[in-house]
Amino acid sequence: MTVTDPREAFADKLISDLTTSLETFSVFLGLELGLYAAIAEHGSANETELAARAGIARRYAREWLEQQTSAGYLLCDEVSAPAQERRYRLAEGHAEVLLDGDSPFHAAPGIVMLAGIAKVLPDLLAAYRTGGGVPYHAFGRHIRHGIAHFNRPAFLHEYTASWLPAMPEVDARLRANPPARVLDLGCGLGNSSIVLAQAYPRVRVLGVDLDEESVAEAREAAAKEGVADRVSFVVGDAAAPREGETYDLVTVFEALHDMGDPVGTLRAARSVLAEGGSVLIADERVADELTPEADLLERMQFGFSVLHCLPATMAEKPVEAAGTILRAPTVRRWAEEAGFTGFELVPIDFPFWRFYRLSG
Ligand SMILES: C[S@@+](CC[C@H](N)C(=O)[O-])C[C@H]1O[C@@H](n2cnc3c(N)ncnc32)[C@H](O)[C@@H]1O
Repeated sequence: MTVTDPREAFADKLISDLTTSLETFSVFLGLELGLYAAIAEHGSANETELAARAGIARRYAREWLEQQTSAGYLLCDEVSAPAQERRYRLAEGHAEVLLDGDSPFHAAPGIVMLAGIAKVLPDLLAAYRTGGGVPYHAFGRHIRHGIAHFNRPAFLHEYTASWLPAMPEVDARLRANPPARVLDLGCGLGNSSIVLAQAYPRVRVLGVDLDEESVAEAREAAAKEGVADRVSFVVGDAAAPREGETYDLVTVFEALHDMGDPVGTLRAARSVLAEGGSVLIADERVADELTPEADLLERMQFGFSVLHCLPATMAEKPVEAAGTILRAPTVRRWAEEAGFTGFELVPIDFPFWRFYRLSG
């Protein structure tokens, strides 16, 4: 029987975690500098070709290629050849995960988010000490784009193909006349709004987000996708009252936990619901209570909570700052406080989110 020194075991774990973190940032370099794309487009590259194609210095190209090989991210078939002659390539399927923005396996944007967090580390330290926050926009485009591109494949492939059909009355209303109106709160770059309008040619969508840059990019995307006549976006707080507006469906995708007044948001959403309308909330699929050594996804979400979501919400002068770990009992409590009488967990099988339908 081997007795492990707990100091040694924990130090090993930290060193393993450190290695993973460093390798993750090296993936960011490959994405942001277009290094993977430069390899994938031509099937392979040596250090000189990579440097020329991506416009980086050859010495850095060599180090990055060798490091990626040691990390198992790239394959090198001639490791014993002189360094400048070695060719490197991506293993089967890896280009899709790294580079294909439509693929359900496109995990790379999650890594891009790290750069947004790295950018504000000194502000995070200050916020923890003062109790203040770090505004969403301070995390910059890497967070904004990282989130949007991470979530987009699910909207493309699952939102209208399986999530909405799991609620047949909602699906039917979106197809019917008079044209249904949808309010998409915390819409980010507008992918959910645009995909919805493309799948249901009658619906009109209003996307609302507190972040000005997100709304500007959402407007551009709607124009590019040819749905700007039915999809519009405004900057605003989701909790603000919406006088004189009525919606058949209100959606909140991975955003309720970010909002400084979640009950106010649900109250505002309830007040604009048409007869028979519903609110659909998608938020993190986490356990109902704090779990030591939680599963990988909950640990990932907790990581985002301490480094991004909670500080961003704290900058909103919150009524309640939930953090990323929005547990089902909390959503139920908020729904009741906002006056909803109907609360349903929609049976949708999606690894990242739970789906809540509120009505009444
Ligand atoms: C995790 S992102 C999700 C964005 C989008 N729904 C998606 O799935 O790609 C959360 C969004 O909520 C927005 N947000 C945070 N607080 C808000 C508030 N009080 N009112 C409106 N939007 C808010 C943020 O600006 C951000 O775009």
